[in-house]
Amino acid sequence: MRGPEKLLHVSVWRGGARGRFQSHEVPRQDAQTVLDVVTWIQRRVDASLAYRFACRVGMCGSCAMTVNGIPRWTCRTHVARVAPDDRLEIAPLANLPIVRDLVVDMSGFFDKWARAKGRFVPTATRRDDFARVRPDSPARRAIDAAIECIGCGVCYAACDVAAWNPGYLGPAALNRAWALTRDLRDGARRERLTAVAGDAGCHACHTHTLCSERCPTHLSPTAAIAGLKRATALAALRGGL
Ligand code: SF4
Ligand code: SF4
Ligand code: FES
Repeated sequence: MRGPEKLLHVSVWRGGARGRFQSHEVPRQDAQTVLDVVTWIQRRVDASLAYRFACRVGMCGSCAMTVNGIPRWTCRTHVARVAPDDRLEIAPLANLPIVRDLVVDMSGFFDKWARAKGRFVPTATRRDDFARVRPDSPARRAIDAAIECIGCGVCYAACDVAAWNPGYLGPAALNRAWALTRDLRDGARRERLTAVAGDAGCHACHTHTLCSERCPTHLSPTAAIAGLKRATALAALRGGL
C-alpha cells in the first residue's frame, strides 16, 4: 500500500513590485527541479502564472529566479538540494524591474553589456586568413576563464552594489568586457577600458565575491573585474585612457 503523497509547500510571487506571495502544495517527485515545480503550478493550478524558460538544460540563461532568497538557475537546481524542509519560496530575480510574477525585465541588464562595449570589434577583413589561437595558448586560456557566460543575470541579482547603484555596469557586463579585452583579435581595447573605467564601472566593485559564488557556470566575475581594475589603472598611468 502506498503511503500518503509527499508535498512541497511552495510560495510563489504574483503580480508586480507590489505583489504578494501565493501558496501552493505541489507533489514531491524524485529528481524534481525548481523549474519543474513552477511548471507544475502553471500547468495544473494557474495557467496565468508568468515565468520564463527555454532550454531546460542550463544553456539559455532564461530561467533564473530567487529560490529561498538566493538567485539560481531553476532548471538545474534540484529541490532536494535547496529545500531540505520541503519549503520553497520562489520570487523574481532581484535588482531588475518585475514585469509580472516571476518575469523580470532584462533590457537594462543587456543595455549595460552595450555600455561596457561587450561586442567583439574585428580587426581582420574577409580577405584575411582566419586568426589562429591555439587552444592551449595563454591567450586562449585567459579567454576561457570568462567566456562561458549564459547571460542569466544571477550574478547581477546577487550583487549589492547593483542594488544600491542603478548605474553600476554589474558583474556580467564587466566579465564580458574583460573577456573581450583579452581577445587578441579585438580592436576596441582602448574604448572598452574607457567605458568600464568610470564611476559606474569596475572601480565601483567591492570585491565581496557573491557574484562568483552564485554564478551557475562557475565563472569568476570578481576576478574579471580585478583584471579590469589593473588594466584601466595601467592604461591611465601610460596616458592611454
Ligand atoms: S564582487 Fe563586485 S560585482 Fe561581484 S557581487 Fe561583489 S560588488 Fe558585485
Ligand atoms: S557571469 Fe555567471 S551568473 Fe553572471 S550572467 Fe554570466 S553565467 Fe550568469
Ligand atoms: S531553461 Fe535554459 S538555462 Fe534554465
